[in-house]
Amino acid sequence: MPLERIALLEDKRIVLGVTGSIAAYKAVDLASKLTQHGALVDVIMTESAQRFVTPLTFQAVTGRAVYTTLWQSAAGSDLPTHVVHVGLAEEADLFVIAPATANTIARLAQGMADDLLTITALAARCPVLVAPAMDGSMYIHPATQANVATLQARGVVIVPPDEGRFASGLVGQGRLPETPALIGIVRRLLGREGMLKGQRVVVTAGGTREPLDPVRFITNRSSGKQGYALAQAALDVGAEVTLISAARALVTPHGAELIAVESAAQMQDAVMAQIANADALIMAAAVSDFRPQDSAEHKIKKSDGLALQLVKNPDILMGVAEARKESNVPRVVVGFAAESQNLKAYALDKLERKALDLLVANDISTTDAGFDVDTNRVSIFYRDGAVQESAGSKAQVAEDVIRRVAALLHSR
Ligand code: C5P
Repeated sequence: MPLERIALLEDKRIVLGVTGSIAAYKAVDLASKLTQHGALVDVIMTESAQRFVTPLTFQAVTGRAVYTTLWQSAAGSDLPTHVVHVGLAEEADLFVIAPATANTIARLAQGMADDLLTITALAARCPVLVAPAMDGSMYIHPATQANVATLQARGVVIVPPDEGRFASGLVGQGRLPETPALIGIVRRLLGREGMLKGQRVVVTAGGTREPLDPVRFITNRSSGKQGYALAQAALDVGAEVTLISAARALVTPHGAELIAVESAAQMQDAVMAQIANADALIMAAAVSDFRPQDSAEHKIKKSDGLALQLVKNPDILMGVAEARKESNVPRVVVGFAAESQNLKAYALDKLERKALDLLVANDISTTDAGFDVDTNRVSIFYRDGAVQESAGSKAQVAEDVIRRVAALLHSR
Protein backbone atom coordinates (compact mmCIF):
# COMPACT_ATOMS: atom_id res chain seq x y z
CA MET A 1 0.00 0.00 0.00
CA PRO A 2 1.39 3.47 -0.80
CA LEU A 3 1.82 5.76 2.16
CA GLU A 4 -0.92 8.20 2.90
CA ARG A 5 -0.60 11.65 1.36
CA ILE A 6 -0.13 14.35 3.99
CA ALA A 7 -1.96 17.61 3.29
CA LEU A 8 0.91 19.68 4.68
CA LEU A 9 3.44 18.00 2.35
CA GLU A 10 1.24 17.96 -0.74
CA ASP A 11 3.17 19.67 -3.59
CA LYS A 12 5.67 21.19 -1.16
CA ARG A 13 9.06 21.58 -2.79
CA ILE A 14 11.79 20.07 -0.71
CA VAL A 15 15.40 20.27 -1.79
CA LEU A 16 17.27 17.35 -0.24
CA GLY A 17 21.04 17.76 -0.07
CA VAL A 18 22.86 14.45 0.37
CA THR A 19 26.53 14.34 1.35
CA GLY A 20 29.17 11.63 1.62
CA SER A 21 28.24 9.68 4.73
CA ILE A 22 27.27 6.01 4.86
CA ALA A 23 23.89 7.29 6.10
CA ALA A 24 23.29 8.45 2.49
CA TYR A 25 21.42 5.16 2.04
CA LYS A 26 18.91 6.32 4.66
CA ALA A 27 18.36 9.53 2.69
CA VAL A 28 16.97 7.33 -0.10
CA ASP A 29 14.23 6.18 2.26
CA LEU A 30 13.61 9.78 3.35
CA ALA A 31 13.31 10.92 -0.29
CA SER A 32 10.99 8.03 -1.06
CA LYS A 33 8.67 8.60 1.93
CA LEU A 34 8.49 12.37 1.38
CA THR A 35 7.56 11.71 -2.25
CA GLN A 36 4.89 9.17 -1.28
CA HIS A 37 3.44 11.70 1.18
CA GLY A 38 2.99 14.15 -1.72
CA ALA A 39 6.13 16.33 -1.69
CA LEU A 40 8.21 17.23 -4.76
CA VAL A 41 11.74 16.25 -3.78
CA ASP A 42 14.72 17.62 -5.72
CA VAL A 43 17.91 15.88 -4.68
CA ILE A 44 21.35 17.48 -4.80
CA MET A 45 24.24 15.06 -4.29
CA THR A 46 27.83 15.98 -3.52
CA GLU A 47 30.57 14.09 -5.30
CA SER A 48 31.35 11.95 -2.27
CA ALA A 49 27.66 11.14 -1.72
CA GLN A 50 27.74 9.49 -5.16
CA ARG A 51 30.33 7.02 -3.85
CA PHE A 52 27.70 5.63 -1.46
CA VAL A 53 24.54 5.74 -3.61
CA THR A 54 23.91 6.71 -7.20
CA PRO A 55 21.86 9.59 -8.61
CA LEU A 56 19.75 6.96 -10.35
CA THR A 57 18.64 5.62 -6.96
CA PHE A 58 17.20 8.99 -5.97
CA GLN A 59 15.79 9.56 -9.43
CA ALA A 60 13.95 6.26 -9.18
CA VAL A 61 12.32 7.02 -5.81
CA THR A 62 11.49 10.68 -6.48
CA GLY A 63 10.61 10.43 -10.17
CA ARG A 64 12.51 13.69 -10.65
CA ALA A 65 15.87 14.86 -11.94
CA VAL A 66 18.80 14.61 -9.53
CA TYR A 67 21.34 17.43 -9.48
CA THR A 68 25.04 16.69 -9.07
CA THR A 69 27.04 19.57 -10.46
CA LEU A 70 27.14 23.29 -10.48
CA TRP A 71 27.91 23.21 -14.18
CA GLN A 72 24.63 21.79 -15.35
CA SER A 73 21.64 23.64 -16.71
CA ALA A 74 18.10 23.25 -15.45
CA ALA A 75 16.68 24.08 -18.88
CA GLY A 76 13.58 22.00 -19.54
CA SER A 77 12.93 21.35 -15.82
CA ASP A 78 10.02 22.87 -13.87
CA LEU A 79 12.40 25.21 -12.01
CA PRO A 80 11.75 28.96 -12.43
CA THR A 81 15.14 29.57 -14.07
CA HIS A 82 17.61 27.45 -16.00
CA VAL A 83 20.36 28.53 -13.56
CA VAL A 84 20.18 25.44 -11.46
CA HIS A 85 21.21 26.69 -8.00
CA VAL A 86 19.00 29.77 -8.24
CA GLY A 87 16.09 27.71 -9.56
CA LEU A 88 16.35 25.17 -6.75
CA ALA A 89 16.77 27.83 -4.06
CA GLU A 90 13.93 30.04 -5.28
CA GLU A 91 11.41 27.25 -5.48
CA ALA A 92 12.22 25.47 -2.24
CA ASP A 93 9.79 25.50 0.68
CA LEU A 94 12.45 23.71 2.71
CA PHE A 95 16.11 22.77 2.23
CA VAL A 96 17.05 19.58 4.07
CA ILE A 97 20.68 18.47 4.24
CA ALA A 98 20.65 14.86 5.41
CA PRO A 99 23.06 13.33 6.06
CA ALA A 100 25.38 16.29 6.58
CA THR A 101 29.07 15.38 6.99
CA ALA A 102 31.53 17.29 9.17
CA ASN A 103 33.08 18.57 5.93
CA THR A 104 29.82 19.95 4.52
CA ILE A 105 28.88 21.48 7.88
CA ALA A 106 32.28 23.23 7.98
CA ARG A 107 31.85 24.47 4.42
CA LEU A 108 28.33 25.74 5.11
CA ALA A 109 29.56 27.53 8.22
CA GLN A 110 32.27 29.21 6.14
CA GLY A 111 29.77 30.27 3.48
CA MET A 112 31.68 28.44 0.76
CA ALA A 113 30.04 28.13 -2.62
CA ASP A 114 32.16 25.83 -4.74
CA ASP A 115 29.72 23.00 -5.30
CA LEU A 116 26.01 22.82 -6.08
CA LEU A 117 24.94 21.99 -2.52
CA THR A 118 26.77 24.85 -0.79
CA ILE A 119 25.96 27.44 -3.46
CA THR A 120 22.25 26.51 -3.30
CA ALA A 121 22.38 26.83 0.50
CA LEU A 122 23.72 30.37 0.09
CA ALA A 123 20.99 31.27 -2.38
CA ALA A 124 18.16 29.71 -0.33
CA ARG A 125 15.73 31.90 1.61
CA CYS A 126 13.58 29.05 2.92
CA PRO A 127 14.12 27.30 6.29
CA VAL A 128 17.21 25.06 6.28
CA LEU A 129 17.39 21.78 8.20
CA VAL A 130 20.77 20.12 8.74
CA ALA A 131 21.03 16.55 10.05
CA PRO A 132 24.67 15.81 10.97
CA ALA A 133 25.87 12.21 10.56
CA MET A 134 29.42 11.15 11.37
CA ASP A 135 31.45 9.16 13.88
CA GLY A 136 30.87 10.34 17.44
CA SER A 137 34.39 11.63 17.97
CA MET A 138 34.04 13.85 14.89
CA TYR A 139 30.66 15.15 16.00
CA ILE A 140 31.83 16.16 19.46
CA HIS A 141 35.07 17.68 18.15
CA PRO A 142 35.19 21.38 19.07
CA ALA A 143 35.62 22.32 15.40
CA THR A 144 32.38 20.58 14.39
CA GLN A 145 30.56 21.87 17.45
CA ALA A 146 31.65 25.43 16.67
CA ASN A 147 30.46 25.05 13.07
CA VAL A 148 27.12 23.63 14.22
CA ALA A 149 26.75 26.58 16.62
CA THR A 150 27.51 29.03 13.78
CA LEU A 151 24.80 27.50 11.61
CA GLN A 152 22.35 27.51 14.50
CA ALA A 153 23.06 31.18 15.21
CA ARG A 154 22.13 31.88 11.58
CA GLY A 155 18.75 30.23 12.02
CA VAL A 156 19.57 26.81 10.60
CA VAL A 157 17.67 24.05 12.39
CA ILE A 158 20.04 21.29 13.52
CA VAL A 159 18.66 17.77 14.05
CA PRO A 160 20.60 16.25 16.96
CA PRO A 161 22.07 12.94 15.78
CA ASP A 162 21.01 9.71 17.49
CA GLU A 163 23.27 7.67 19.70
CA GLY A 164 24.20 4.17 18.61
CA ARG A 165 26.58 2.04 16.62
CA PHE A 166 28.50 3.46 13.66
CA ALA A 167 29.70 1.72 10.50
CA SER A 168 33.15 1.80 12.13
CA GLY A 169 31.88 -0.44 14.89
CA LEU A 170 32.32 2.31 17.48
CA VAL A 171 29.44 3.64 19.54
CA GLY A 172 28.50 7.27 20.20
CA GLN A 173 26.31 10.20 19.09
CA GLY A 174 26.35 10.77 15.36
CA ARG A 175 23.77 8.55 13.67
CA LEU A 176 21.24 10.02 11.27
CA PRO A 177 17.80 9.72 12.91
CA GLU A 178 15.32 7.35 11.27
CA THR A 179 12.95 8.59 8.56
CA PRO A 180 9.79 9.01 10.72
CA ALA A 181 11.69 11.27 13.14
CA LEU A 182 13.10 13.34 10.26
CA ILE A 183 9.66 13.65 8.66
CA GLY A 184 8.24 14.78 12.03
CA ILE A 185 10.79 17.61 12.12
CA VAL A 186 10.09 18.50 8.48
CA ARG A 187 6.35 18.74 9.26
CA ARG A 188 6.97 20.98 12.24
CA LEU A 189 9.08 23.36 10.18
CA LEU A 190 6.71 23.49 7.23
CA GLY A 191 3.70 24.02 9.49
CA ARG A 192 5.11 26.64 11.82
CA GLU A 193 3.30 29.57 10.17
CA GLY A 194 0.00 27.65 10.01
CA MET A 195 -3.47 28.71 11.13
CA LEU A 196 -2.94 27.67 14.78
CA LYS A 197 0.42 29.39 15.19
CA GLY A 198 0.71 30.66 18.76
CA GLN A 199 -2.31 28.65 19.97
CA ARG A 200 -2.10 25.95 22.61
CA VAL A 201 -4.16 22.82 22.02
CA VAL A 202 -4.65 20.04 24.56
CA VAL A 203 -5.70 16.67 23.14
CA THR A 204 -6.67 13.57 25.12
CA ALA A 205 -6.36 10.12 23.59
CA GLY A 206 -6.80 6.43 24.29
CA GLY A 207 -8.93 4.34 26.59
CA THR A 208 -8.32 4.77 30.31
CA ARG A 209 -7.36 1.78 32.47
CA GLU A 210 -9.11 1.37 35.79
CA PRO A 211 -7.09 -0.92 38.08
CA LEU A 212 -8.57 -3.84 40.00
CA ASP A 213 -5.23 -4.88 41.41
CA PRO A 214 -1.58 -4.44 40.31
CA VAL A 215 -2.08 -6.67 37.24
CA ARG A 216 -5.73 -6.37 36.21
CA PHE A 217 -7.74 -3.45 34.91
CA ILE A 218 -10.95 -2.51 33.13
CA THR A 219 -10.60 -0.71 29.84
CA ASN A 220 -12.27 -0.27 26.44
CA ARG A 221 -11.48 -0.74 22.77
CA SER A 222 -10.12 2.74 22.07
CA SER A 223 -6.70 2.62 20.36
CA GLY A 224 -5.93 6.34 20.64
CA LYS A 225 -5.34 6.61 16.87
CA GLN A 226 -7.87 9.39 16.30
CA GLY A 227 -6.49 11.43 19.22
CA TYR A 228 -2.91 11.06 17.98
CA ALA A 229 -4.02 12.06 14.47
CA LEU A 230 -5.65 15.17 15.97
CA ALA A 231 -2.44 16.06 17.81
CA GLN A 232 -0.45 15.67 14.57
CA ALA A 233 -2.97 17.72 12.57
CA ALA A 234 -2.77 20.53 15.15
CA LEU A 235 1.05 20.41 15.03
CA ASP A 236 0.93 20.57 11.23
CA VAL A 237 -0.79 23.95 11.42
CA GLY A 238 1.63 25.39 13.96
CA ALA A 239 -0.11 24.75 17.32
CA GLU A 240 1.67 24.00 20.58
CA VAL A 241 0.26 20.61 21.47
CA THR A 242 -0.02 18.74 24.76
CA LEU A 243 -1.16 15.15 24.36
CA ILE A 244 -2.66 13.58 27.47
CA SER A 245 -2.63 9.94 26.56
CA ALA A 246 -3.81 6.65 27.98
CA ALA A 247 -2.73 4.88 24.76
CA ARG A 248 0.50 2.92 24.85
CA ALA A 249 1.36 1.51 21.43
CA LEU A 250 1.52 4.73 19.41
CA VAL A 251 4.45 6.98 18.53
CA THR A 252 4.15 10.49 19.96
CA PRO A 253 4.02 13.00 17.09
CA HIS A 254 7.21 15.08 16.89
CA GLY A 255 6.80 18.35 18.76
CA ALA A 256 3.95 17.25 21.04
CA GLU A 257 4.42 17.30 24.79
CA LEU A 258 3.26 13.91 26.09
CA ILE A 259 1.61 13.41 29.47
CA ALA A 260 1.11 9.68 29.95
CA VAL A 261 -1.80 8.69 32.19
CA GLU A 262 -3.63 5.47 33.02
CA SER A 263 -6.87 6.03 34.89
CA ALA A 264 -9.72 8.49 34.41
CA ALA A 265 -8.75 10.16 37.70
CA GLN A 266 -5.19 10.72 36.43
CA MET A 267 -6.52 12.01 33.13
CA GLN A 268 -8.82 14.41 34.95
CA ASP A 269 -5.95 15.78 37.07
CA ALA A 270 -3.83 16.29 33.94
CA VAL A 271 -6.66 17.94 31.98
CA MET A 272 -7.57 20.34 34.81
CA ALA A 273 -3.90 21.30 35.24
CA GLN A 274 -3.40 21.87 31.50
CA ILE A 275 -6.53 23.80 30.52
CA ALA A 276 -5.67 26.94 32.48
CA ASN A 277 -3.46 28.17 29.65
CA ALA A 278 -4.97 26.26 26.74
CA ASP A 279 -6.85 27.80 23.82
CA ALA A 280 -8.60 24.58 22.88
CA LEU A 281 -9.31 21.21 24.50
CA ILE A 282 -10.12 18.21 22.34
CA MET A 283 -11.35 15.27 24.44
CA ALA A 284 -10.88 12.37 22.06
CA ALA A 285 -10.13 9.91 24.88
CA ALA A 286 -12.54 7.12 25.72
CA VAL A 287 -12.80 7.68 29.44
CA SER A 288 -14.08 4.66 31.39
CA ASP A 289 -17.43 5.54 32.88
CA PHE A 290 -16.87 3.20 35.84
CA ARG A 291 -13.96 2.07 37.96
CA PRO A 292 -13.61 -0.66 40.58
CA GLN A 293 -14.56 0.73 43.95
CA ASP A 294 -11.29 -0.52 45.44
CA SER A 295 -8.00 -1.34 43.82
CA ALA A 296 -6.28 -4.16 45.74
CA GLU A 297 -2.71 -3.55 46.82
CA HIS A 298 -1.71 -7.14 45.98
CA LYS A 299 -2.83 -9.43 43.20
CA ILE A 300 -6.24 -10.92 43.98
CA LYS A 301 -5.88 -14.71 44.26
CA LYS A 302 -8.11 -16.93 42.20
CA SER A 303 -9.01 -18.81 45.34
CA ASP A 304 -10.28 -15.59 46.98
CA GLY A 305 -12.94 -15.09 44.25
CA LEU A 306 -13.79 -11.71 42.78
CA ALA A 307 -16.99 -9.68 42.97
CA LEU A 308 -16.82 -6.47 40.95
CA GLN A 309 -18.09 -3.42 42.78
CA LEU A 310 -18.01 -0.48 40.41
CA VAL A 311 -18.42 3.23 41.08
CA LYS A 312 -18.94 6.02 38.58
CA ASN A 313 -15.95 8.00 37.36
CA PRO A 314 -16.11 11.80 37.36
CA ASP A 315 -17.05 13.28 34.01
CA ILE A 316 -13.99 15.25 32.96
CA LEU A 317 -15.84 17.45 30.47
CA MET A 318 -18.43 18.37 33.10
CA GLY A 319 -15.60 19.55 35.34
CA VAL A 320 -14.14 21.55 32.45
CA ALA A 321 -17.53 23.13 31.80
CA GLU A 322 -17.72 24.22 35.47
CA ALA A 323 -14.23 25.71 35.45
CA ARG A 324 -14.93 27.44 32.15
CA LYS A 325 -17.95 29.29 33.56
CA GLU A 326 -15.54 31.31 35.71
CA SER A 327 -12.51 31.68 33.49
CA ASN A 328 -13.85 31.30 29.95
CA VAL A 329 -10.82 29.13 29.07
CA PRO A 330 -10.30 27.09 27.00
CA ARG A 331 -12.11 29.16 24.40
CA VAL A 332 -13.01 26.05 22.40
CA VAL A 333 -13.92 22.63 23.81
CA VAL A 334 -14.53 19.60 21.61
CA GLY A 335 -16.07 16.35 22.80
CA PHE A 336 -16.33 12.96 21.12
CA ALA A 337 -19.12 10.45 21.16
CA ALA A 338 -19.23 6.82 20.11
CA GLU A 339 -22.77 5.63 19.61
CA SER A 340 -24.30 2.62 17.92
CA GLN A 341 -27.83 4.07 17.74
CA ASN A 342 -29.73 7.39 17.88
CA LEU A 343 -26.51 9.21 16.97
CA LYS A 344 -28.02 12.65 16.43
CA ALA A 345 -30.26 12.76 19.50
CA TYR A 346 -27.48 11.61 21.83
CA ALA A 347 -24.99 13.97 20.18
CA LEU A 348 -27.13 17.08 20.56
CA ASP A 349 -27.92 16.18 24.16
CA LYS A 350 -24.21 15.74 24.95
CA LEU A 351 -23.30 19.03 23.27
CA GLU A 352 -25.75 20.82 25.52
CA ARG A 353 -25.07 18.98 28.77
CA LYS A 354 -21.29 19.19 28.53
CA ALA A 355 -21.29 22.78 27.19
CA LEU A 356 -19.26 21.84 24.12
CA ASP A 357 -18.52 23.95 21.05
CA LEU A 358 -18.22 20.92 18.78
CA LEU A 359 -19.14 17.30 19.18
CA VAL A 360 -17.56 14.72 16.91
CA ALA A 361 -19.83 11.70 16.78
CA ASN A 362 -18.51 8.35 15.58
CA ASP A 363 -20.95 5.85 14.24
CA ILE A 364 -19.47 2.65 15.66
CA SER A 365 -22.07 0.43 14.03
CA THR A 366 -20.00 0.24 10.79
CA THR A 367 -16.67 -1.61 10.39
CA ASP A 368 -14.76 1.21 8.65
CA ALA A 369 -15.23 3.68 11.48
CA GLY A 370 -14.56 4.00 15.19
CA PHE A 371 -12.39 1.81 17.38
CA ASP A 372 -8.98 0.55 16.31
CA VAL A 373 -9.33 0.88 12.51
CA ASP A 374 -7.38 3.51 10.52
CA THR A 375 -10.43 5.07 8.92
CA ASN A 376 -13.32 6.97 10.40
CA ARG A 377 -16.70 8.38 9.54
CA VAL A 378 -18.01 11.14 11.77
CA SER A 379 -20.69 13.77 12.06
CA ILE A 380 -19.53 17.06 13.53
CA PHE A 381 -22.27 18.84 15.47
CA TYR A 382 -22.28 22.55 16.27
CA ARG A 383 -24.16 24.27 19.08
CA ASP A 384 -26.53 25.96 16.64
CA GLY A 385 -27.65 22.57 15.34
CA ALA A 386 -25.48 22.60 12.18
CA VAL A 387 -24.02 19.22 11.24
CA GLN A 388 -21.11 18.46 8.93
CA GLU A 389 -19.90 15.06 7.80
CA SER A 390 -16.30 13.95 7.52
CA ALA A 391 -14.97 10.58 6.36
CA GLY A 392 -11.67 9.11 5.30
CA SER A 393 -8.48 8.21 7.10
CA LYS A 394 -8.24 9.27 10.73
CA ALA A 395 -5.63 11.82 9.58
CA GLN A 396 -8.11 13.36 7.14
CA VAL A 397 -10.88 13.44 9.72
CA ALA A 398 -8.41 15.06 12.15
CA GLU A 399 -7.54 17.76 9.60
CA ASP A 400 -11.25 18.49 9.15
CA VAL A 401 -11.81 18.79 12.90
CA ILE A 402 -8.73 20.98 13.39
CA ARG A 403 -9.82 23.29 10.56
CA ARG A 404 -13.14 23.80 12.37
CA VAL A 405 -11.45 24.34 15.72
CA ALA A 406 -9.20 26.97 14.11
CA ALA A 407 -12.22 28.70 12.55
CA LEU A 408 -13.95 28.83 15.96
CA LEU A 409 -10.81 30.12 17.69
CA HIS A 410 -10.40 32.85 15.09
CA SER A 411 -14.04 33.88 15.44
CA ARG A 412 -13.74 34.62 19.18
O1 C5P B 1 -20.98 10.75 27.80
P1 C5P B 1 -19.96 10.13 26.93
O2 C5P B 1 -18.98 9.27 27.65
O3 C5P B 1 -20.50 9.44 25.72
O4 C5P B 1 -19.17 11.40 26.38
C1 C5P B 1 -18.03 11.27 25.58
C2 C5P B 1 -17.20 12.50 25.69
O5 C5P B 1 -17.04 12.87 27.06
C3 C5P B 1 -15.81 12.28 25.18
O6 C5P B 1 -15.30 13.50 24.66
C4 C5P B 1 -15.06 11.86 26.42
O7 C5P B 1 -13.67 12.13 26.31
C5 C5P B 1 -15.73 12.68 27.51
N1 C5P B 1 -15.80 12.03 28.81
C6 C5P B 1 -15.30 12.66 29.92
N2 C5P B 1 -15.35 12.07 31.14
C7 C5P B 1 -15.93 10.88 31.32
C8 C5P B 1 -16.49 10.22 30.19
C9 C5P B 1 -16.40 10.82 28.96
O8 C5P B 1 -14.78 13.78 29.77
N3 C5P B 1 -15.97 10.32 32.51
